[in-house]
Amino acid sequence: MTTDTTTKGTAPGATTPGDTVLDARGVTMRFGGLTAVRGVDLHVNSGEIVGLIGPNGAGKTTFFNCLTGLYIPTEGEVRYKGQVLPPKSFKVTAAGIARTFQNIRLFANMTVLENVLVGRHTRTKEGLWSALLRGPGFHKAEAASRARAMELLEFVGLAEKAEHLARNLPYGEQRKLEIARALASEPGLLLLDEPTAGMNPQETRATEDLVFAIRDQGIAVLVIEHDMRFIFNLCDRVAVLVQGEKLVEGDSATVQGDERVVAAYLGEPFEGAPGDEEAAEVEAAEAHAEPTTDAAPGKENDR
Ligand SMILES: Nc1ncnc2c1ncn2[C@@H]1O[C@H](COP(=O)(O)OP(=O)(O)OP(=O)(O)O)[C@@H](O)[C@H]1O
Ligand SMILES: [Mg+2]
Repeated sequence: MTTDTTTKGTAPGATTPGDTVLDARGVTMRFGGLTAVRGVDLHVNSGEIVGLIGPNGAGKTTFFNCLTGLYIPTEGEVRYKGQVLPPKSFKVTAAGIARTFQNIRLFANMTVLENVLVGRHTRTKEGLWSALLRGPGFHKAEAASRARAMELLEFVGLAEKAEHLARNLPYGEQRKLEIARALASEPGLLLLDEPTAGMNPQETRATEDLVFAIRDQGIAVLVIEHDMRFIFNLCDRVAVLVQGEKLVEGDSATVQGDERVVAAYLGEPFEGAPGDEEAAEVEAAEAHAEPTTDAAPGKENDR
C-alpha cells in the first residue's frame, strides 16, 4: 500500500495563513458529579499541527466532543474562524471542522468509495427534488463528488480499494478511510482522535507523512495520540491534559522537559524513542539466552 502524500495544492476548505482557526475558551464539561474537562483554553492557528496528550480518562475525547457539537459544554465557548460554533455536529462540520473517531465509525457494509461520498454530503448543494428526479444537475453533481472522493482516496493511498467493502479493510486502512471521509467535508480544521491506534510502525510513519501533507494543503490539525514519538515528531505545539485540566502547553522540548508532565504522564524523562531501552534489554537478554528447541509461541502484544 502506498500513500500518495505528494499531492500538492490547496484544499478547498484551506484557511488563511496567520488566522486563528480554533479558539476554545474555558471549556468545562460535567457529567453529573464528574468534571471530565475543566476550564480548558486551546487555540489552533492556520498552518499548525497541535497535539493533545494525557493519560487515559484525562478528558481528551470529551474535549473533542465539545469542539464538534456532540456535547454542549457546561461552560465555555468554542469559536471557529471567529464565529461561535453552533451546538449541532452537522453544523460544525458544515462550518469547517471535521474529525475522526477513537472507535472507528465507518459504514461497514458500504464500499470504501461510498463511505467517502457520505462524508461529502455537507458540501453537495443538490437538494431532495434534484436527487429524486435525477435530473442533469444531479448527475453532474454526483460525477463531481465521485471524482473528488477518488482524489481523496488516492491521497490517502486507498484508490485501488475503492470498491472493497469497508469492513474488509485491515484496521490501519480503516483509519485512513476515516481520514479520507473527514477530508471529504472539505474542512479547514481536522481533529484526529488516536489516528495510529492499532497501526504497525510502518503505517504509523506513513500516517505521519499523511498528516504533514494535510497540513501542507492548508488544513490545520489537532491530534490526540498516545504514541509520543508520533506526537513529538509531528506537532508544532502540544497541550497536556491531566484529570480534565490543561497542565502544560508548549513546543515538544518544553513539554518533554516539564517535570509536571514527566510526573503526571510520561513517568520518566522522554529520551530518544520510547521503548528503545526496553528493546535493547530484550536483545541483550536474547543474545545471552541458551537456544531452545521447543520455544513457546510468541505472545501478541495486547495493546
Ligand atoms: N458520556 C459520558 N458520561 C459520563 N462520563 C463520561 C462520558 N464521556 C466520558 N466520560 C468520562 O469522562 C472522563 C474522560 O473521558 P475521555 O474519554 O474524554 O478520556 P480520554 O482522555 O479520551 O481517554 P483515552 O485516552 O482512554 O481515550 C472519563 O472519566 C470518562 O469515564
Ligand atoms: Mg479518548
